[in-house]
Amino acid sequence: MSDDASPRKELAAIKGTRDILPGEVEKWQVLEATARATFERYGFRELRAPVFEATELFEKGTGATSDVVTKEMYTFTDKGGRSLTLRPEYTPSVVRAIIEHRLDLEGAPMRYYFMGPMFRYDKPQKGRYRQFHQIDIEVFGEKDAAVDAEIIEMAHALLGKLGVTGIETLVNSVGCRACRPAYSEALRKAAGLRKAELCADCQRKAETNPLRIFDCKVEACQEVAKSFPSIQDYLCAECRDHFAKLKACLDVLKIAFKVEPRLVRGLDYYTKTTFEIVTSHLGAQNAILGGGRYDDMMKDFGGPDICGTGFAMGMERVLSASEVVPPKTKLLYLAYLGEEAKKAGLGLAAFFRVNGIECLVEYKDRGMKAHFGRANKLGAAWVLIVGDNELQSGRFGLKDMATGRQLDGPREELLSFLLQS
Ligand code: HAM
Repeated sequence: MSDDASPRKELAAIKGTRDILPGEVEKWQVLEATARATFERYGFRELRAPVFEATELFEKGTGATSDVVTKEMYTFTDKGGRSLTLRPEYTPSVVRAIIEHRLDLEGAPMRYYFMGPMFRYDKPQKGRYRQFHQIDIEVFGEKDAAVDAEIIEMAHALLGKLGVTGIETLVNSVGCRACRPAYSEALRKAAGLRKAELCADCQRKAETNPLRIFDCKVEACQEVAKSFPSIQDYLCAECRDHFAKLKACLDVLKIAFKVEPRLVRGLDYYTKTTFEIVTSHLGAQNAILGGGRYDDMMKDFGGPDICGTGFAMGMERVLSASEVVPPKTKLLYLAYLGEEAKKAGLGLAAFFRVNGIECLVEYKDRGMKAHFGRANKLGAAWVLIVGDNELQSGRFGLKDMATGRQLDGPREELLSFLLQS
């Protein structure tokens, strides 16, 4: 096999998916650990749902007129003849799980988080993948705008810990079932007047769900949408009050934000608050996270009338915008010489590992020079030398690769030295 060997084309990773290799994966681990620690401080607990669900769950939850459902789902029929879909997002799964397990009756705070892969068949580009990863948080049963503000503040806290800078927080209210129909009607009229300038897809949306025109990626449609009436002028008293409270709470939390009346978000379920955090560092795919309130999904699924609010953060995107530096561990490389030392080395390595030292033995018989060459290449902090003399005396040599200093002593003594350095 030559150095530039690659798998046969039909065996290569699928377009829009990618491997996260050692070297990069440590950053993911830092992101995951930081997210867990942050969310748990706010009373969130992890809830893991399956990767695939009944297709109807997303049709009903995510919304039959959303681009995600109409164009982007990985849907297949299983051997039992049932239509299943690889989850394109997490929110409907959590709602389903709550109803199925009646988590609302447990009395615990209904605050959940989750991290994992999502699947959308969109055109891959920088920051947009077909298998991507989200960190998702959801809160149920809290109507107050304060909780919307709190989760936005939690997102800021997490992004701050990850060293993400240059962010902007956009907020809006998309109203509710009481006030949205009048707004949709106004949009329908406005879209009707400029129908000829819209793409074929938006001409259809103008009839079915004109709000979705705001999600269109075609520039001409975005331009037309700028002339549409603002939802802010159509909010009912309750939604207006909720939005005013959200803004006041964000002020208390000292979160700078911009009201963006066109921020309706691409999923059908939102009511009242919607928000996104965008960054100037990511080019076209600039949304690090997005979310909002969805007060009707649970009852629409046939469950109790419990409201929800939450957000999801794209892990690939947050990592591109962050300055995560994984902690470096110090490696002890065990260099054995001969068969007896190899056997004894097994036990020695186990001893150091049990006591918290990262220790590597490569079971390839090498001379001492080759061992040191390899240890150097691996960036080992120390080399432990195990040969016949060492086995007989019970004292082992330990070389500090940075200074060249060598110690020798019984394994316990070397261990306490390693633990202190
Ligand atoms: P979303 O805006 O569709 O919302 O996705 C949330 C985030 O996931 C985006 O801001 C982006 O960072 C990331 N993302 C989405 N699609 C891709 C992709 N193809 N490649 C890479 N990253 C992507 C939701 O999914 C809602 N479930 C959020 C939510 C939770 N609302 C309420 N609760």
